[in-house]
Amino acid sequence: MIDGFKPKVAVVLGTGLGEFVAEVKTLKVVPYSELPDFPQTSVQGHAGNLLLGHVGPTPVAVMQGRAHYYENGKVDVMAGAIRALAAMGCETVLQTNAAGSLRMDMPPGSLMAISDHINFTGVNPLFGTVRGRFVDMIGAYDPELLKKLLAVAKDEDVPCHEGVYIWFSGPSFETPAEIRAARVLGADAVGMSTAPETILARHAGMKVVGLSLMTNYAAGLGGDTLGHEQTLAVASEASGRVCRVLRAFLERY
Ligand code: HPA
Repeated sequence: MIDGFKPKVAVVLGTGLGEFVAEVKTLKVVPYSELPDFPQTSVQGHAGNLLLGHVGPTPVAVMQGRAHYYENGKVDVMAGAIRALAAMGCETVLQTNAAGSLRMDMPPGSLMAISDHINFTGVNPLFGTVRGRFVDMIGAYDPELLKKLLAVAKDEDVPCHEGVYIWFSGPSFETPAEIRAARVLGADAVGMSTAPETILARHAGMKVVGLSLMTNYAAGLGGDTLGHEQTLAVASEASGRVCRVLRAFLERY
């Protein structure tokens, strides 16, 4: 895409976290509409651009916005993009997302490094894939990179929890009963993305590291009703902290 430029880390920016692009010394911006493998995104807060550039010394490819299973019912909607990032040379995918918190000690605005995920949807982005489909998911969120992410957040004085992300399909939010069930299953945060990209990235041989921003207490835990506006508002308020951690992580990658 740029002669001689090989990104090392792919960054997937979640809902409301697109501002991170200001931290990138950008060489090129390409709208997904010009990239046959990339998804069209219909969600507010997802711009739909691929940026190539550097954060510190690290060459990066940044997806400013992702597509979700719930947008068109295609569980492999991110497959083309993730495989293209692997083909470009990315060795790691740094995923971000907005999520609901299942833990009272992680109020809205908190950060959580993802240690593992639960796929609660019953579908898998590798449906129909034959080659290499029995992907080992142990250590899917790379333990070394997870440690590094937590250490970098600490250095930046940004509190960061560690926990398990559970993937629900959406687009409706979860019921309080579903959230009680998810808690029993061992989930700390809930969202509508990330797990499929992790499965695709592991299938493509890339490492994964993930950071969730809690934008609300999950259904039934906070007393409030839930809405996308709140996700965007909290993401906007917390985006400075998230950007600082992402920048420091990539600078020291
Ligand atoms: N549930 C699912 N996805 C979300 C939530 C939630 O509570 N908050 C932000 N994304």
